[in-house]
Amino acid sequence: MSKLIAGNWKMNLGPKEAVTLVKKLQDRVLPKKSVEVVLCPPFLDLVPVKEILDRQKFKLGAQNCHYLDEGAVTGEVSASMLRGLVSYVIIGHSERRVQFNEDDKLIAKKLAAVARNGLRAILCVGENLHQRQSRLSVKVVVDQLTADLSLLTASDVDDLIIAYEPLWAIGTGEFATPEQIEPVISAIHRTVEELYGEGGASGLQVLYGGSVKEDNAKAYLNQEGIDGLLVGGASLNAEEFIGIVKAAQAAQV
Ligand code: 13P
Repeated sequence: MSKLIAGNWKMNLGPKEAVTLVKKLQDRVLPKKSVEVVLCPPFLDLVPVKEILDRQKFKLGAQNCHYLDEGAVTGEVSASMLRGLVSYVIIGHSERRVQFNEDDKLIAKKLAAVARNGLRAILCVGENLHQRQSRLSVKVVVDQLTADLSLLTASDVDDLIIAYEPLWAIGTGEFATPEQIEPVISAIHRTVEELYGEGGASGLQVLYGGSVKEDNAKAYLNQEGIDGLLVGGASLNAEEFIGIVKAAQAAQV
């Protein structure tokens, strides 16, 4: 299966800075079919970035969307508005779950909206530090998945990407070791299989995210069950992000 490297820029870079970063990346990244590279800038940057994007090298993603296609919802952006502009939408990022009280019911509706509009969701799941210390990592992720996927059909899940992002590893520099994440990655694959049948979601891709850098990318990419990386802070640094993309390309020789 091909690998996927996604950069989540979060609430950073206005349109001008976004275009500058994308140009820098485009100068240095060579396209390779076996590695899809997705850039997820803030909504505001999507149109200007799209205008200069080399589509052989990068695809675009959004960081969120509303569950309705249109309506009186001030300040929101729908999946139907994003259609034609992006190919991917991040759903259920822990920063949205925690800071905006997004629960699994809402996330399930957002995933359905993404599927209905023919886009690919990158669904984020993961436990916090307290839950990890209480040995609840697998349970938390399985519960999130079971609820989040409740409105999706097997063919929707075929297009789905699930990013395991332990909250304690996000933006902390404290990245999870391959041994720490192995049981959770296996549980993600097992849960989807249990819900949709063996082979029922053969297109599913599972990513790791949380303090990914150029130096630790390779170890994750070589790990069984991991099809790519969701990168936060390091995706804003051209050198680091190019290093991560190159590590994925080298792993796919
Ligand atoms: P960092 O790579 O900055 O830890 O962020 C990870 C993340 O939240 C990506 O969605």
